[in-house]
Amino acid sequence: MSTTPAARTPLPRLSPQELTELRDRLAAEHSDLAARGVKLDLTRGKPSSDQLDLSDGMLRLPTRHTDASGTDVRNYGGLQGLAELRTIFAELLGVETEQLVAGGNSSLTMMRDCLVDLLLFGGVDSPRPWSQEEKVTFVCPVPGYDRHFTLLESLGIDMVTVPMHDDGPDAEAVAALVAQDPSIKGMWIVPTYSNPAGAVCSQEVASRLVGMETAAPDFKIFWDNAYALHHLTDDEAKSADVLSLASAAGHPHRPIMFASTSKITFAGAGVAFLAASTEQVAWYLKHLGTGSIGPDKVNHLRHAEFFGDADGVRRHMVEHRRIIAPKFDEVDRVLTEKLEGYDVATWNRPAGGYFVNLDVVDGTASRVVTLAKEAGVALTPAGASFPRGEDPRDRNIRLAPTMPPVAEVTEAMEIVATCVLLAAVEKALGDAGQSGGTA
Ligand SMILES: Cc1ncc(COP(=O)(O)O)c(C=O)c1O
Repeated sequence: MSTTPAARTPLPRLSPQELTELRDRLAAEHSDLAARGVKLDLTRGKPSSDQLDLSDGMLRLPTRHTDASGTDVRNYGGLQGLAELRTIFAELLGVETEQLVAGGNSSLTMMRDCLVDLLLFGGVDSPRPWSQEEKVTFVCPVPGYDRHFTLLESLGIDMVTVPMHDDGPDAEAVAALVAQDPSIKGMWIVPTYSNPAGAVCSQEVASRLVGMETAAPDFKIFWDNAYALHHLTDDEAKSADVLSLASAAGHPHRPIMFASTSKITFAGAGVAFLAASTEQVAWYLKHLGTGSIGPDKVNHLRHAEFFGDADGVRRHMVEHRRIIAPKFDEVDRVLTEKLEGYDVATWNRPAGGYFVNLDVVDGTASRVVTLAKEAGVALTPAGASFPRGEDPRDRNIRLAPTMPPVAEVTEAMEIVATCVLLAAVEKALGDAGQSGGTA
């Protein structure tokens, strides 16, 4: 029988003997769980097959061969992407249709293209290609998206971290860094329901970031709005209007916005978007045009026909929410039921996006991931949300509950909660041992 949250004593207040008893009980529970041989996965933020099914109607589209202007979508051309689709997503992303590019299926590829082009050629406002600088550094709000960090690392770009708060990156910390160091050429932001913290960048923070003085004249904000439309509650966050803010602040070329339908239609066959100042869009297309004669406009038309208009996308997102919100509720319910009162973990209840950010007792995140693995639950490696996988406090774990069915989320979270508590008790006993058993 488990104790109710109200009846629990915070771990730091337990005596060494009580800790030992608790550790023995949890270790036995953990062995039983491991013996069950379950195989559960909370690692990657992928849509479930139920979510993918929502877009199956697209597989019978498009019904036409031509777009509104009469161009045959099956042919080469139209590098910027189908205007009909761009109009729909321009409304949703709060940009002008002319500022928006519709590309292939991956916004991450567009981010990589931009970085490579900046390194090789420089941007619209660069004195020289970034590769000719002694060093290039990016500011990375943490916890953040692991693939952003891997991408930078692969290109030899240094990383400096700043904390991510509920209203976005710590803007004062960013401003202090970029004012001094001309090697700092850019930063990442996942502005809406960030991966993994679920933070929403406020209009004020966005204003500060687009307006701040930077030692590098060609500083870029990679505004990765991957979860712009991915609400989990009625309290729908509105993304800050970063392009207009930047323009008004006199830095129109600072932000480059990215988004995609990876978690709207098909993660493997969606459409990715890039938006920026008119000059910066022309810059992107100039370089893109050396390697492409045009994107998959058949897929663009398929998406445009499927949704019809921006409201069609909004209605579709409500269906996603119906499927995944109960999984997020379950994560919160199990963690609350199993851990509240022990003082061993904090977690968020995101209003959107794909992740729950779990902070456990300092120094125990790696141990929790190992214990969970032994009990059959795959978790994202501890530290994954930090550059080079190094969480200085070894406390952060990213939970991704969208893919498994609800019953599996429940089972996996019950195991995770046991592991969080067991690792915390082990740590408390270790600390007690080191301080002569007087903890
Ligand atoms: C913040 C963020 N950006 C980008 C991506 C990937 O986007 P895409 O599928 O468009 O390449 C993800 C996927 O998890 C993500 O979390």
